[in-house]
Amino acid sequence: MKKPLIIANWKMKLGSSESLNLAKKLSRFLKKSIFAEVILCPSFTEIAMVSDILKNTEIKLGAQDCFWEESGAFTGEISPKVLKDYGVQYVIVGHSERRQYLGETDDMIHRKIRVALSVGITPVICVGETFDERQSGVKDITIIRQVEKAISGIWLNKMDKIIIAYEPIWVIGSGQAVDPKEAEHTHNLIRQTLYDALPDKVVDEQIRIIYGGSVEPQIVSLFLKQPTIDGVLVGGASLDSNVFGALIMAAGKI
Ligand code: PGA
Repeated sequence: MKKPLIIANWKMKLGSSESLNLAKKLSRFLKKSIFAEVILCPSFTEIAMVSDILKNTEIKLGAQDCFWEESGAFTGEISPKVLKDYGVQYVIVGHSERRQYLGETDDMIHRKIRVALSVGITPVICVGETFDERQSGVKDITIIRQVEKAISGIWLNKMDKIIIAYEPIWVIGSGQAVDPKEAEHTHNLIRQTLYDALPDKVVDEQIRIIYGGSVEPQIVSLFLKQPTIDGVLVGGASLDSNVFGALIMAAGKI
């Protein structure tokens, strides 16, 4: 069985010394035995420092976003190519907080996915419904649309990988995750949408689907036990080394 994937999204919640300490503690903790494939996504300003700490460890480095071009006159934006130079292997794209506060559209997200793949970074594509979409019965349609637009026309080369993170927007940061069975239903829907767009072999071997939204150590195993849930994207519970360590240990016991 493949190791579960555990992605820590530190968002904009840690200062420089906090990031440094957390990365150091985790790299010590995870040095000897790795129970899962762990990826840390610090702020851009801490990428170089965390990259240095993670050298010679099994922990991988991710970024929380990137721009949709490799270079050019785009003041303030972050080049995926430069991220790659810093050792970044994964990039979160289309997180609901960016869709909501920065106005990111499905088209922008699609372009980010393309450029990430072209520089050799694995995109972690976030999809999810709002509470209103769920209440009005359009949850499934929303998810299908987001997945279709994200991967439309994308051809994966042999080495390319994609991660889709299903994150119901209304549970993010709420302390109350969705029922793992419901997440499993949505993951099946995402998988079916992928089968409709790409060769089965590509979906089975190059795409993983993970769940995000209020995942904590006590419940992580309930999600990872579901047949189509390959991992978790963790916000709040990834900010403390003890809590995140407990989450990784719990994931390793599946
Ligand atoms: P949360 O955040 O674990 O704090 O709900 C998850 C995310 O936003 O990716």
